[in-house]
Amino acid sequence: MEQSNNKSKKRFAFEKPKLKLETTTLWEYPSQHYGKSQQGDKEYVGATPSYVIWNLLQRYTRENDVVIDPFCGSGTTLDVCKDLNRQGLGFDIAPYREDILKGDARKLPVKGNSVDFVFMDPPYSNHIKYSGDPQCIGELDARTPLYYEAMEKVFAESFRILKNRRYFALYVSDSFKKGKPFCPIGFELFQRLQKHFKPIDIISVVRHNRTLKRNHWHTSAIEGNYFLRGFNYLFIMKKEVL
Ligand SMILES: C[S@@+](CC[C@H](N)C(=O)[O-])C[C@H]1O[C@@H](n2cnc3c(N)ncnc32)[C@H](O)[C@@H]1O
Repeated sequence: MEQSNNKSKKRFAFEKPKLKLETTTLWEYPSQHYGKSQQGDKEYVGATPSYVIWNLLQRYTRENDVVIDPFCGSGTTLDVCKDLNRQGLGFDIAPYREDILKGDARKLPVKGNSVDFVFMDPPYSNHIKYSGDPQCIGELDARTPLYYEAMEKVFAESFRILKNRRYFALYVSDSFKKGKPFCPIGFELFQRLQKHFKPIDIISVVRHNRTLKRNHWHTSAIEGNYFLRGFNYLFIMKKEVL
């Protein structure tokens, strides 16, 4: 009995990497959380690996800095902020926890030039059903201009609230659906970000989710002559008004 449990655990178990400052532009995170506690909720579809936010906050913020996540989801950013003594403020169109404020990332009730860091992991097209709220950007197909128009408003709003000479990070993936055209969301959004911000770096974050472990997905990818998404982009930008 014990043996079979371990076996099944082994099949899907991911070894937690050590929490350390990354030094290259290739980050690999096989699990959602660092340490023994949880940051955000791993059951929340589309939750951000907390290591990503931890690394960003270590490099681009200081203690007591104000950090805003306009697409806060299960609250991963708020939990990492608590661990690192940053003042986290999270908004979401459909708040998942009490400490997340209801708000639209395109128009936040936040004073201009008042925030030290913005992190965001928005919906990438309409693959995941979030709340179904008509203002949810996850309702917009990235094969239409509507998705990009919405994200342009989000970037303009982030620029407005951010203090000069402070940083912004976007975690995002391209989108591919069998039978539909490939959608290079990363490049599309990076171009739009550059209208406001100065690029600082581009990180590739390797994903090791359960879907990618399942064989039938790989067989389909070979038979259908397409690739499964293996990484997310992490675009690091800076507000620099001379
Ligand atoms: C990829 S999830 C964020 C995951 C989050 N970082 C976490 O770790 O749990 C995207 C989130 O964006 C939210 N969202 C979609 N449209 C929004 C909008 N217009 N304003 C604010 N939040 C929005 C969704 O409700 C969803 O929770």
